[in-house]
Amino acid sequence: MATTRRFVPLLGCGFFVFCLWGLFTLSRSWTQMKVSQAVGLGELVATPSPTPSGHWNISEAPKQPFAPRPQFIAGIPRPDGHEYTKTLVIPRTTYEDTSWTDFEIPGWETAVYVVDDPSAALHPPKNKGHEVMVYLSYIIEHYDELPEIVAFMHSHQFGWHNDDLLDGNAATILQRLRPERVIREGYMNLRCGWGPGCPDWLHPGTLEEDETKQEEILLARSWGEIFPDEPIPDVLAQPCCAQFAVSRERIQAIPRARFVFYRDWVLRTQLSDYISGRIWEYLWHVIFTGQNVVCPKEHVCFCDGYGICFGGEDEYNAYRNMDSEREGYEDELKRWRSRAAVIEAARRRGTLGEKSHLTVPEPGRDVELEELISHQGELKEELLLNATIRGQDANARALEAGFW
Ligand SMILES: *[C@@H]1O[C@H](CO)[C@@H](O)[C@H](O)[C@H]1NC(C)=O
Ligand SMILES: *[C@@H]1O[C@H](CO)[C@@H](O)[C@H](O)[C@H]1NC(C)=O
Repeated sequence: MATTRRFVPLLGCGFFVFCLWGLFTLSRSWTQMKVSQAVGLGELVATPSPTPSGHWNISEAPKQPFAPRPQFIAGIPRPDGHEYTKTLVIPRTTYEDTSWTDFEIPGWETAVYVVDDPSAALHPPKNKGHEVMVYLSYIIEHYDELPEIVAFMHSHQFGWHNDDLLDGNAATILQRLRPERVIREGYMNLRCGWGPGCPDWLHPGTLEEDETKQEEILLARSWGEIFPDEPIPDVLAQPCCAQFAVSRERIQAIPRARFVFYRDWVLRTQLSDYISGRIWEYLWHVIFTGQNVVCPKEHVCFCDGYGICFGGEDEYNAYRNMDSEREGYEDELKRWRSRAAVIEAARRRGTLGEKSHLTVPEPGRDVELEELISHQGELKEELLLNATIRGQDANARALEAGFW
């Protein structure tokens, strides 16, 4: 008992010395850190402090990027006349009919994923995240046997999100699509029209919630999970609606594991399908081009992408403005007719004299307007036809797309 007691102060002393030593070594590594900071190396973490003992090494390992950026290089189209291998990937539910893909798009293979039927030949691991899950699943499952061109689209043939110049028709889009542009660019949004989506759409850094873009603020929160290395961009923009074509080369420039990682995010996220789908509409171009904004000029997109060349930006805009011109004529005609109807009713009741404040429509203006409208319709058709003919000429295309 007595011997044990004698050890107590000794133990205390030993502990005291140990504390002193600890403090000393700690302060030493602190001083060294301060020195390296003062030297102005900036990145404190990048300069490990050479503590002789190594026990108090509190400098962190230099921050390695989660994954290096893929090399996005322009592709080289094959010689003219080459038949590209092409596959259309679409998600559908058991109730949706995609038979249009069977007979409307010769030259295209199809990969139709049935999202709510686990017994289907092609189906995603889970019915979640709308088309995102299907697009990623296709890439993951076919990574080593991809065709030269893959188009990702929705199941319905007609929709407002398909460009009006292509009849709003998904089959027309695929028939007219020029593989050369897809190969060269690597990634091509199948919609040329800027609205909605371009020239700037989501501002993920924003702090105010926009009712019409709920995904905006949620994207900022998801961004760090999806792209751990990339700072949150100020703006994300591309034409809407998640329909695009990608070259095999471009897909394979990105490691397969990364697509698995993206799909895991979709599988795990707590966000609703609606929101996660909306978020991904503005991420595909980031993944496949590394750019936050991909808004090619509409006339270039139509010309180089679909062989519809109006001859230049001004000509294209003039064609586009014809719609508002026609609407103007149509409105005027409507007003003319309703005024004429009021006058006619008054005349029948024999009260025309009393209602002399009525404005009498200019006689003959209705016929004039009708002629203007029909003439304009013809002109528009002719311009589109001419644009389609011009689009068959390689020189005209190169000129309009700005390659010369
Ligand atoms: C201190 O830690 C860093 C990062 O972990 C390491 O690179 C360095 O070699 C360590 N220094 C010593 C002396 O152990
Ligand atoms: C369409 O092309 C033809 C032949 O080049 C030309 O004569 C005609 O003026 C063009 N039409 C329009 C509306 O520009």
